[in-house]
Amino acid sequence: ASTLGAAAAEQGRYFGTAVAAYKLSDSVYSGILDREFNMVTPENEMKWDATEPSQGSFSYGSADQIVSHAQSHNQRVRGHALAWHSQQPGWVQNLSGTALRNAMVNHVTQVATHYKGKIYAWDVVNEAFADGGGGGRRDSNLQRTGNDWIEVAFRTARAADPGAKLCYNDYNTDGQNAKSNAVYAMVQDFKSRGVPIDCVGFQSHINSASPVPSDYQANLERFAALGVDVQITELDIEGSGSTQAENYRKVTQACLNVSRCTGITVWGIRDSDSWRASGTPLLFDGNGNKKAAYTATLTALGGG
Ligand code: G3I
Repeated sequence: ASTLGAAAAEQGRYFGTAVAAYKLSDSVYSGILDREFNMVTPENEMKWDATEPSQGSFSYGSADQIVSHAQSHNQRVRGHALAWHSQQPGWVQNLSGTALRNAMVNHVTQVATHYKGKIYAWDVVNEAFADGGGGGRRDSNLQRTGNDWIEVAFRTARAADPGAKLCYNDYNTDGQNAKSNAVYAMVQDFKSRGVPIDCVGFQSHINSASPVPSDYQANLERFAALGVDVQITELDIEGSGSTQAENYRKVTQACLNVSRCTGITVWGIRDSDSWRASGTPLLFDGNGNKKAAYTATLTALGGG
């Protein structure tokens, strides 16, 4: 196979990218998107501030644009993200307690219902654990509504769209550390109590401060052993040339080595599409040319 998506498919996996709706009219961008990728994640368009800018009033325009583009190009969709402490509209930031909990439940129900049947997997809850060695929940307005907010979000999403896989998604959980241990304990607890969870997303934003952990594959494996799928959900790797290519190879190979690793998503197409203010963390350069990292990834997938 000569593209990322086709090569991944031959391995029983998908290869995806984050997509911004306003870039779909850029023919270089959409040319690469439709040639190489068979899964898309709306980069910002399904977040709370975009989909419910004022309470009870939903706006799906740009997210729908991405979903319909995906459907007409044989791409599946990872929904991102139903409940998150960041990118909340102002009205949410001003709520607390029962009012916030009810707003969260309603938001999850409405958005998951709107996209019912169209989403491969939802990031139901994003980034709910704290960084550092404490291994606790992140303090946030959602967390302050009660420790059960995460399971309530998952049960609500399941009720709204029983066909979508439901994921917990986070960063700096790519190796075994206090944060990933805490997520692991939550997944184990959810599994033992029958709280619906199907997958864990490992964002994998790799840079010199957080390089590819030596136990990257082992970490994926221990989560998979809990009975969930694992996915690499927001991959980007700082650097260039052969070092960057080798890191992309390692991550790709780790996913292939774990049978329940169902796919890889990169967080943007060209370096110029990256959320990072500077750097060259993606697979295509600013002109849309394939980088060494692209070739290493395609080769690791068995393509070429
Ligand atoms: O939409 C406004 C626009 O109206 C305004 O003119 C412009 C001025 O700066 O800002 C636009 O909003 C920006 C938005 O992206 C859309 O482009 C926000 O400022 C900017 O903060 C926002 O950044 C996004 C970031 O999440 C916000 O947290 C990035 O694009 C997006 O790549 C990034 O993605 C996150 C994942 O959701 C979760 N994991 C980490 C990842 C990287 O930070």
